[in-house]
Amino acid sequence: MDVQFPRKLQGLFKPNRYKVMYGGRGSAKSWSVARALVMLGAQKPIRVLCAREVQKSIKDSVHALLKDQINALGLGGVYQILETEIRGPNGTQFLFAGLMSHTVDSIKSFEGCDICWVEEAQSVSKKSWEVLQPTIRKPGSEIWITFNPALPTDETWQRFVANPPAGAWVQEVNWSDNPWFPPELEAERLDTLARDPVGYENIWNGKPKTIIDGAIYTSELLAAASEGRIGHVPYDPALPVHTVWDIGISDATAVWMVQSVRNELRCIDHYEANGLSIASHLQELTTRRYVWGTDWLPHDARARELGTGKSIEEVMRGMGRTVQITPRLSIEDGINAARLAFPRVWFDAEKCARGIECLRSYRREFSDKAGEFKPLPVHDWASHSSDAFRYLAVNADSLSYTNHYATLPVHTGDSYAGY
Ligand SMILES: Nc1ncnc2c1ncn2[C@@H]1O[C@H](COP(=O)(O)OP(=O)(O)O)[C@@H](O)[C@H]1O
Ligand SMILES: [Mg+2]
Repeated sequence: MDVQFPRKLQGLFKPNRYKVMYGGRGSAKSWSVARALVMLGAQKPIRVLCAREVQKSIKDSVHALLKDQINALGLGGVYQILETEIRGPNGTQFLFAGLMSHTVDSIKSFEGCDICWVEEAQSVSKKSWEVLQPTIRKPGSEIWITFNPALPTDETWQRFVANPPAGAWVQEVNWSDNPWFPPELEAERLDTLARDPVGYENIWNGKPKTIIDGAIYTSELLAAASEGRIGHVPYDPALPVHTVWDIGISDATAVWMVQSVRNELRCIDHYEANGLSIASHLQELTTRRYVWGTDWLPHDARARELGTGKSIEEVMRGMGRTVQITPRLSIEDGINAARLAFPRVWFDAEKCARGIECLRSYRREFSDKAGEFKPLPVHDWASHSSDAFRYLAVNADSLSYTNHYATLPVHTGDSYAGY
């Protein structure tokens, strides 16, 4: 029978207690293992346990995949496909099980297996491995493991890649190793590359996700860089410069200075300083000789009282500024707004260096206890400019048309009489 396998998976046919194949999507792991097992089972009687962490019904299992491969290899006459089992010639048998629902006792029925294939093994827990490994105990029995890595702290990664059992065959395999990588997956791959260059490393190149990172805008910033949107973005004197503020009383105040050109939001400058009065922030800002547009203040600028008994909003209006208040939005919605706005944003690399550094370091913290990232971003030196950037995104559409307000004469209410 002429059945081909990717070169990197030739190890499937050399005896080994542990055969570990991991990597990104579309690398022919599942197909190759299914085909190898179907072929082996047709040659001699073997008992195969197809396991995964959770199997609510047979639909979750590799049952359908095995059936397809049996037919593709023209072995439909040799195998008998039952509802929850597959039987081959001379007693070959494929069984299916979810490890999570088994105990040391209940799993004993699988002791006679020759091969156990653990598919989607990234989600198999420590407890499940401890129940399974001693169960596959028949002399010469093998454990075949296929998975797409998730976190490097996952038990399966630690157990079989970071610290593999002595002598184990451990093979990384990716889409580029699959000679039959189909065009549908190629389109999907290119799409991920364009939209999510960070996720791409995990999804297609099989690299575990980093946990220390947790950075929120990594892929957006990578895209901005690769599209040339971080560079020399000069002030255009024909247009007003709008400011978007995050105001700190005891910590930093951050301001993005933005010009809106067509659909683009050009961050031409950035300001951050600690513990000064609003008047001194403004003084500092206006050493830049820009034509100023609208100042967008956070919603709490309306309520907050200064020593004068006036709100920050009133103080700024009193200093001749055009003030608007950023609509209130949850942090999560603000981050989503930022992700949506990002493709329109340009940054001056030099004047916004600090702001970009803050965006790069704006992150969620990993909670070892919960095994996932905490929902709220870390409040630290990077969060003030990042908060201001969220407000910029929330105001993105208003910023795009407030240019007109800045150049139009101020109307009194009378001008609109009759409307
Ligand atoms: N031996 C093969 N012959 C033909 N096509 C194959 C073969 N192996 C894999 N493929 C193709 O590659 C695709 C991805 O393979 P798959 O095993 O599902 O990858 P993975 O499990 O690594 O995500 C399959 O859907 C199929 O189109
Ligand atoms: Mg697969």
